[in-house]
Amino acid sequence: MQYKATVYANDRLFPEPIPHPLQQLAPCSDRGSPYPELWRLTLHAPELVSLLKPGQFLHLLTRPLLSHDPLLRRPISVASWHEEHGTCSLYYQVVGRGTAYLSQLQAMERLDLLGPLGQPYPMPPTGQQSVALVAGGIGIPPLFPLAKTLLQKGHKVTLFLGARTRGQLLMLGEFRQAGVPYFVTTDDGSAGRLGRVVDDFHDKLLHSHHFDYIYTCGPKGMLQAVQTITAAAGLSGWLIMESHMACGLGACLGCTIRVQEGEGWRYALLCQEGVAFAVGEVCFDV
Ligand SMILES: Cc1cc2nc3c(=O)[nH]c(=O)nc-3n(C[C@H](O)[C@H](O)[C@H](O)COP(=O)(O)OP(=O)(O)OC[C@H]3O[C@@H](n4cnc5c(N)ncnc54)[C@H](O)[C@@H]3O)c2cc1C
Ligand code: FES
Repeated sequence: MQYKATVYANDRLFPEPIPHPLQQLAPCSDRGSPYPELWRLTLHAPELVSLLKPGQFLHLLTRPLLSHDPLLRRPISVASWHEEHGTCSLYYQVVGRGTAYLSQLQAMERLDLLGPLGQPYPMPPTGQQSVALVAGGIGIPPLFPLAKTLLQKGHKVTLFLGARTRGQLLMLGEFRQAGVPYFVTTDDGSAGRLGRVVDDFHDKLLHSHHFDYIYTCGPKGMLQAVQTITAAAGLSGWLIMESHMACGLGACLGCTIRVQEGEGWRYALLCQEGVAFAVGEVCFDV
């Protein structure tokens, strides 16, 4: 496909200003590694938690308070929150210095948080829709608050979750407890169907299940495949994208992705317009 670059005025790039991000020093109220190679962190940040909506993320300073290294914050999705307790929980994978720092936080040690950032996820049109959530690996956490909100609004939710192996099926218990039916795939066949979550979703879509709407979050290749399948099936929905981020506030222009616009494409700032983009909108092949 051919894309042409299109330049837009700034007001087109920032459709809805994100209200009131806060900076807060949050004590770590719980931490642990409930799954192999995956960590959970619970933070006490009542003011910030009271503003959270499904789809928003936090930007964490992953260094001791008096240090400047590493300089940049690290974005992490919010997996759940509890307004009465003023706490929120995150799940993360240790991939580098920032996430390694998080894994060594001690109880009551404080972390500098900025958030909520990013646009809340758009909701399906009113009416009772059948919604599929398709997640791979560490892509699952932001879909849990979304699932709870969708259920509250009367939608029917089905989860497709893929992981490398049984022990990495993150948050399945939480979805089960919320009453969400699910299909599981693992790369090694140790739980559910052997293979890729995207193939399982495609099979069910073709042969046994009807969905009106999808949300998907996970590795880039999976998102691209889900976009192709859902666009071909004429489904609406949202791809939850990731990129490297610096400021998280729309100032550094470091988080651009290419999105289709008419016959051409333009750059979108993930931290301002996203992190969810409509099915068919993301240009993966440029
Ligand atoms: C909106 C958003 C939400 C996220 N939510 C989660 C979450 O809930 N749980 C979680 O584990 N991770 C999440 N991530 C990814 C997380 O931000 C990165 O893994 C983290 O910043 C890495 O920091 P680090 O210092 O440990 O690694 P670094 O030392 O910065 O990098 C280590 C390696 O990871 C690569 N890397 C770092 N960030 C990204 C990225 N965003 N995309 C692709 N490759 C990257 C680097 O290129 C490098 O190879 C999210 C990212 C975004 C943008
Ligand atoms: S991270 Fe700076 S503009 Fe998005």
